[in-house]
Amino acid sequence: MEKLFENFNFDQLNSPDFKEDAVREVLILPIIQRLGYAQKQIVRSKSLAHPFLKIGSKKRAINLVPDYLLQIEENYAWVLDAKAPNENITQGGNVEQVYSYAIHPEIRTKFFALCNGREFALFRTDEQKPFLYFLLQDIENYWEQLERYLSADSFQVGKTFDYTTISPLTRGGADFDYLNRPLLEEIPVRKQAAKRHFGVHGYFTKQTWNVVQEYIRNFSQVGDVVLDPFGGSGVTAIEALMIDRKAIHIDLNPMSVFMVDSLLAPVKTSDLKIAFDKIKKEYEKFFANLSGVGENLSGLEDLTGFYAEALKKYPYPKNIPLPKGSDVKSIEQLFSQKQLAQLAYLKHLIKKEKNKNIRKSLLLAFSSSINKFNLTFHYTKSEGGGDSAIFRYYRYRIAPKHDSLELWGIFETKIKKVISAKKEIEYNINETTIQNAQILKGTATDLGFLKKESVDYIYTDPPYGKKIPYLDLSTMWNSWLDLEVTEADFEMEAIEGGEHNKSKDSYNELIKKSIEEMYRVLKFDRWMSFVFAHKDPEFWHLIIETAEKCGFEYAGAVSQNNGQTSFKKRQNSHTILAGQLIINFKKIRRPKSILQANLGMEISEVVLQTVEGIIAKNNGATLEKINDEVVIKGMELGFMHLIPNVYMDLTDYLLDKFDYDHNTKLFTIRQNKKFNSYIDLNLRVRYYLISYLRRMELEKKEARFDDIILNILPLLKNGITPESQTVLNILAQIAEKVGTDSWVLKKEGQQSIFK
Ligand SMILES: C[S@@+](CC[C@H](N)C(=O)[O-])C[C@H]1O[C@@H](n2cnc3c(N)ncnc32)[C@H](O)[C@@H]1O
Repeated sequence: MEKLFENFNFDQLNSPDFKEDAVREVLILPIIQRLGYAQKQIVRSKSLAHPFLKIGSKKRAINLVPDYLLQIEENYAWVLDAKAPNENITQGGNVEQVYSYAIHPEIRTKFFALCNGREFALFRTDEQKPFLYFLLQDIENYWEQLERYLSADSFQVGKTFDYTTISPLTRGGADFDYLNRPLLEEIPVRKQAAKRHFGVHGYFTKQTWNVVQEYIRNFSQVGDVVLDPFGGSGVTAIEALMIDRKAIHIDLNPMSVFMVDSLLAPVKTSDLKIAFDKIKKEYEKFFANLSGVGENLSGLEDLTGFYAEALKKYPYPKNIPLPKGSDVKSIEQLFSQKQLAQLAYLKHLIKKEKNKNIRKSLLLAFSSSINKFNLTFHYTKSEGGGDSAIFRYYRYRIAPKHDSLELWGIFETKIKKVISAKKEIEYNINETTIQNAQILKGTATDLGFLKKESVDYIYTDPPYGKKIPYLDLSTMWNSWLDLEVTEADFEMEAIEGGEHNKSKDSYNELIKKSIEEMYRVLKFDRWMSFVFAHKDPEFWHLIIETAEKCGFEYAGAVSQNNGQTSFKKRQNSHTILAGQLIINFKKIRRPKSILQANLGMEISEVVLQTVEGIIAKNNGATLEKINDEVVIKGMELGFMHLIPNVYMDLTDYLLDKFDYDHNTKLFTIRQNKKFNSYIDLNLRVRYYLISYLRRMELEKKEARFDDIILNILPLLKNGITPESQTVLNILAQIAEKVGTDSWVLKKEGQQSIFK
């Protein structure tokens, strides 16, 4: 390619005759053309219909119309303004004016640039300083970067992505084309529980194993390195090993590392059984003495005396404070004296075991038993026996009623679960293959021990802001397991709130750093799948922006049910967001950034239209469905950062504008109200017909055609009104006639779908 400005003498810029127009024609135009813009994509001095910006209640005038606006399809990609050689282009009034223009609703670009002939400065609209700056005479050294950000083919516009349910089978090796992997649409959650993940040990927000496995299979091949730096209970690492990948599991919580390491530790299960039986004998002997004491001396004090004696001898966690929101102050108050004594003695017996892996396996069953054997255990018959308060209420809440469970029974069940899990994995994870696993305590924000470009695939599920303070809630386990959590750990924990009252900024910063690290360690032409479920739109914007800034290319997002409904969700179905999205990114050499689409309407209208659209399409939609739709659209059209202007809390917004049915858990259009935004006529008719027929069915009334027309036509008088024949055609697709003139909805699944 011919070099730019090879024959240009930059001394000319010192001449007073070399003005702004010369900068434009001689220097800027060739740059724009070489970046691949055709004449019709270069919009010169586009003036604004409303040349001011609203900032709060103030209006700020936009006095300057930059020289160039670069257009891609119907959208604007970036703005460039030429200045005379002596003008400042890195700060001050010039920069502010071009910035105001770039963020104006009629323009909306992510980048803007200034050039005075000597220097070129490129800005992002969300940053104060230029992120690319060079002297024009050095442009060839910066060309690659300039092209990466600004060339006509470096933007993705209103993409539609193709999805498939199941990853196609590939032979691997040379056949495996990393870059052309399909995106997976929502994968049905396999109810059949994998013994390696269920019942062994509780943890917060576990990913569903078959979904994770399908993703690993799709984006990596045998022998590849799979990383999860927010590893939690280890679903990613375990599934990676199960399908013959190498796994790196990192988590800040020592409890997570303990859990995964102990589960994977290879043991002969027959030896584990022998060790268990030995402990059983000693345990029974010890407490058999107790029943003797109890009978002879009868009375609670004597039992108390016995437990007190045991507690003098066998260590248990003492004076470890609990988070402020807890019902009690310190860890030992979470247990009755009997519970403490039984746990302390059992731990003492386990600690005597010499074989390290057997000891770890026993401790895993012990730790898992603690969850059922404490005063916060809320017993519920209908819900699989109940759960500890940390899982239900995300705090240490003492249960109103206590169960008289005995530790031994719980421990025995748990050891059986551990053994079943070990048997299930031993073919794939054993003495020989365990070297393929690295299970480490550490922070996702510093993966310094990993070389750059050394990982083949990342599947990760970071905390979602405020919901769960992992370290606080793991105190009960960590203290029994003698696992240390330092102040530095709390500092690095990517959450908002918690005992350390962490700020939103700190959360943002930590998530940002972790994405940067993930980018660094991932190889080129490889994928990162990022699970996210935050209700606050600002965080979504942060994720996409950070990933793009690092160099990732957004490659589509899909909502994925996680198969679990938390207790809180069951209690407050319309305020707790339960779904999650899996956002896929690629690390490629020439990533395209998402172009902020020219919306052609106010953002509030875009949101309303999106919500009404999803309600119409599904005849009512859940909080999750609506959130996913808004978020995916917002990410793909680049308006996520504007959503806070419309709502801060989606539930409040929906409750304000729509009806909510507590039984079906669906948001619907207010009864007898029209759609506010434009929705396809057929979809509107279908929506109102279904709503009307459902209502008639509930009220046990007949729905005659004339009544139907009478009821729904007024609601349709918005734009085009349908013919009665159109209504009849749609009615015939979703309902059937009974008797001479009465209509009932067809059963689920029989309604023809024409979406
Ligand atoms: C949503 S959970 C992951 C759950 C996991 N996907 C599973 O299936 O079990 C998020 C995890 O991130 C961990 N975490 C929080 N901050 C971290 C950090 N800075 N580095 C590494 N892990 C962190 C928490 O301890 C928690 O285990």
